[in-house]
Amino acid sequence: MTTASAPGKIILFGEHAVVSGATALGGAIDLRASITVQDSPGSVVITTDDLVLKGFSLDLLSGRLSSPQAAYATRYISAVVSELDARDVSIEIKSSLPVSAGLGSSASIIVAAVMAISEHQGQSLSKEEIAAISYRLEKKVQDGLASPTDTALATFGGYLQISREISALDLPMLDLVVGYTGVAHNTKSEVEKVQRLKERYPDLVEPIFKAMGAISERAAPLIREKNTSELGGLMNINHGLLEAIGASSKELETLVYAARGAGGAAGAKLTGAGGGGCMIALPGPAGQETLMTAIRQAGGYPFSVKSGQEGVRLEKEP
Ligand code: MEV
Repeated sequence: MTTASAPGKIILFGEHAVVSGATALGGAIDLRASITVQDSPGSVVITTDDLVLKGFSLDLLSGRLSSPQAAYATRYISAVVSELDARDVSIEIKSSLPVSAGLGSSASIIVAAVMAISEHQGQSLSKEEIAAISYRLEKKVQDGLASPTDTALATFGGYLQISREISALDLPMLDLVVGYTGVAHNTKSEVEKVQRLKERYPDLVEPIFKAMGAISERAAPLIREKNTSELGGLMNINHGLLEAIGASSKELETLVYAARGAGGAAGAKLTGAGGGGCMIALPGPAGQETLMTAIRQAGGYPFSVKSGQEGVRLEKEP
């Protein structure tokens, strides 16, 4: 039996702009997906008894599927199974990450599966190899639309600055509040929408992407200094720019304004592709509880996260 787990992520700054080569800054969070692989002669079965993914099982050889929710996770796991030519195994998925919420659940499932399956086959891949395979598979499943951001964060953990290259940043942990709107989103269609806007108005959207990249670059020293008020200010500017390119939604705006108002947040923005999914907020002097209450009262689902967490790892058998 082999188990590997990988973290989810938040994009602190620069989502969407990164797809066109501008700089983004992301951090791995303390919510993880784990994949357990066991020998199962004569079949390749994917199961989850997980609340987030709502239990299902799939026999890849017979194609028997126990529930429609299976489609989401199995697209990604099936891609890993065929890439690594996995046979005679059962694969169990557990995840504490909400799906289609912008927290990188698909990337963490792919990355954990690549490590767990390859280790179970007796081959130890380097993190660079895991990140490269995972990025290629995520991109394939999403029809070519993905930056390496999510898979790199799930693999390497910590904080990463992503532009044409990926570099690790040594920054302290940040306590943040995530507010889930409860509205699922589709990264591919959000990215397509924003890219279409850029094609239509390159003279407007390219400078916005450039400003987002500049925000990402300003942010790292502020995290290092724990300069909450300036960091919060940059989150607010970045959110305004994301709203300008159509990545926000009524639900996200409601949570962002509740966080900044009654929640006393130092700053708040949507995170990930937007359109639904999650926002993040940096607690102000009123603290984390006040912020979570404000998000809950505005109809969102708040949870506290710590950024800068460990990347993919093997878990010891229980
Ligand atoms: C999704 O988490 C972030 C986007 O920038 C898309 C990507 O980078 O693949 C919207």
